[in-house]
Amino acid sequence: IHSLIIAIDGHSSCGKSTVAKDLARLLKIAYIDTGAMYRAVTLYALRKNLIVNGKIDEDGLKSSLDDIDIRFRTNLNKGTNDTWLNGENVEAEIRNLEVSNNVSPISALGFVRKRLVELQQLMGEKGGVVLDGRDIGTVVFPNADLKIFMTAAPEIRAQRRFDEMKAKGQNPSFEEVLKNVEERDLMDSTRKESPLRQAEDAVVLDNSQLSPQEQLDWILDQLTEMG
Ligand code: C5P
Repeated sequence: IHSLIIAIDGHSSCGKSTVAKDLARLLKIAYIDTGAMYRAVTLYALRKNLIVNGKIDEDGLKSSLDDIDIRFRTNLNKGTNDTWLNGENVEAEIRNLEVSNNVSPISALGFVRKRLVELQQLMGEKGGVVLDGRDIGTVVFPNADLKIFMTAAPEIRAQRRFDEMKAKGQNPSFEEVLKNVEERDLMDSTRKESPLRQAEDAVVLDNSQLSPQEQLDWILDQLTEMG
């Protein structure tokens, strides 16, 4: 178990990171939040005005890629997994609605994906890792030991994201959050580069009616079945 590669893909805001974090803590393996990496690049682009009103300066971003350093700092006891961009903890900022609204076009760029996929492969190649994202089982680690495809009804996902943002002191409208969730799903599954799709050998977890503990138990059952 300590050398496995576990891939969790699925729609926006369906709790992939919650279950991935729980699993990492329980199995004492690493957790790589690949969505956070696309979000960090998006935050960088917004700050440098490389994306303005949704228009991306692709050449500018391409030549800045070497200046973007992304790292994770995990605290297993606290259950936190923070994303650092060029030496700054950006964990809270990468979750705001401005980043969420701009991340899908940034993640559709082939040169961005190429760079981040290489980094993810490097971080995970030794195994003992759970990764969540959109293309882990299809592109990043097609030979992953266990592939899970997660989904839930859009309204349920939007409600969870809405509650989460409220709890963090942000003040979005529910409609805004639902619109973002639906638009990202559409963009992520229809883009040319590595669209979101279920790997043929993935097991589907619809968690609309499941608590985090029930989801964790379900995954542990899958691992047991694998032997
Ligand atoms: O997982 P999260 O919702 O934080 O991901 C943010 C966005 O990053 C997704 O909507 C998607 O556009 C992009 N993404 C991706 N490939 C991944 C992970 C995330 O394209 N492996």
